[in-house]
Amino acid sequence: MLNISQYQKKIEQITVEPSNAIFKELGNNNYDFIELISELIDNSIAAKVDGTPLNIKIEIGLSSNQKETYLIIKDDGCGIKKENLGKAITPAGFSGGKTLNEHGLGMKQAVASLGSLSYLLTKAIDEKVTSYIDKFEFGEISMLQIDYDWNHGTEICVKNLNGIVPTSQQKYTMYVVPYLGAKYKRFLKSDNPKMQLSIALLDVDQLDENELPLEIQAWKVQEVKQTYFHPNKRQNKPIVLNKEFKGKGWKAKFTFGYAPTNEEYEELGLELPKPYSPYVVSIKKQGFDMITHDRVINFSQFHELGFVNVPHNNYNYVRGEIDLLNGFSTSTTKNFILKDKNLEELLNQIKSYLEENGLLERKNDPDELPEKLLRDRLANYLKGRTIEPKKDVKTEYTVQGLAGAIDVYADEEAYELKKGQAAGLDVYQLFAYMDMGSISKGYLVAKSFTTGAQAAVDYIKQNHSKEILIVQLDEFPIRNAPNSEERKKYFK
Ligand SMILES: Nc1ncnc2c1ncn2[C@@H]1O[C@H](COP(=O)(O)OP(=O)(O)O)[C@@H](O)[C@H]1O
Ligand SMILES: [Mg+2]
Repeated sequence: MLNISQYQKKIEQITVEPSNAIFKELGNNNYDFIELISELIDNSIAAKVDGTPLNIKIEIGLSSNQKETYLIIKDDGCGIKKENLGKAITPAGFSGGKTLNEHGLGMKQAVASLGSLSYLLTKAIDEKVTSYIDKFEFGEISMLQIDYDWNHGTEICVKNLNGIVPTSQQKYTMYVVPYLGAKYKRFLKSDNPKMQLSIALLDVDQLDENELPLEIQAWKVQEVKQTYFHPNKRQNKPIVLNKEFKGKGWKAKFTFGYAPTNEEYEELGLELPKPYSPYVVSIKKQGFDMITHDRVINFSQFHELGFVNVPHNNYNYVRGEIDLLNGFSTSTTKNFILKDKNLEELLNQIKSYLEENGLLERKNDPDELPEKLLRDRLANYLKGRTIEPKKDVKTEYTVQGLAGAIDVYADEEAYELKKGQAAGLDVYQLFAYMDMGSISKGYLVAKSFTTGAQAAVDYIKQNHSKEILIVQLDEFPIRNAPNSEERKKYFK
């Protein structure tokens, strides 16, 4: 490394001038339309007046002539004070913020990506007049003071819309509106909305009876949230709710659960999500919502978070939210959480937690069914089957002298049930019942078996003359979904 103090020096000055080209360059980012419009929505939310719901109206004027197209976003937030307007326009003028205003770039990025600035109007809550500007530039720019009819708020109009702005109704219905509903779900909560967000698509080339552009369609953005299905509670509930993870200088909360199957939607009494819904079960839409300041920064797939190597259908039902409470930053395009040490630590902690608890794959039937239910079903099956039905069938049959009970005792045969994998020790447990209960034949029924289980069976047969058979749970027709009676009886 160069050590400047060792050299002879002559001092001269150079001037670093701000270049207005930055306002255009800021538009060359990797944002999609949702993310661009979200920058403007974030600003409105950050300016929300405490105690009253915020209103945001987005209007998009379409025309066959690109010069006539425009996008307006208008809010009734607290506006920008005259003295702050210059700084608000300066790229990174307000930066390092720890709120929804973070880098001091968003508005400029959004405007330049969407088209070009037509005007910005703003009236601060404690000021009398509305300020109007029509350029983003360095240096002195003129600001008009006008008498606009509103209490306070900000209105930004972008003209000459670029191709990134969708023009079809379908794109709004199936993409823009539901994704904004998901992204801002916490502000749009149907029971207690903190904001109203509406979008209208207008045809500038056709006028209505009031000589205004004809409305093609309008949408009220509604909350879109994950639906969960708790396999045991059989309710719309996550498995893990707001579990706290923390490290040095950071804190996050994690919510995790499984999406319902189509039948389970019915069981919950809910409508099936539309195929375009942000949380529909599909390989493209698996993953967790990454949230900062209560809005979704991105919908991350598992492989993007490093939880699995490649996307796989196995994880399609997994749902969740990672709520980044403090110690995390977004990139300058706010669709990304900086991959710093804090994020790495958090993701590692969550990954181990998911692995330790075997949560990433939704447990399938036998694990979802309580053991008692499986046991009773097995007893009923043995009694009721056509081929060699059992006559004397008892459940939880107590073996004298041994504090324990055989799951099912049927015509002098013992049946032990395991929902998961059975090992050698499980075989020996059954053997103990058989030995002390003088039972000569036993069945160990389980989802799967370790090699130790078979070794134990062979050893017992040779040395103790007791016959134990290991049988896959699948061989019995007892794994079907619970009916409503069973649900009442076994799931509490
Ligand atoms: N709708 C709005 N209402 C009030 N203030 C706004 C609004 N939009 C932008 N501002 C002001 O302009 C500043 C710059 O916005 P922006 O370029 O998005 O950067 P950032 O939000 O990261 O500060 C904001 O910090 C805020 O002070
Ligand atoms: Mg912003």
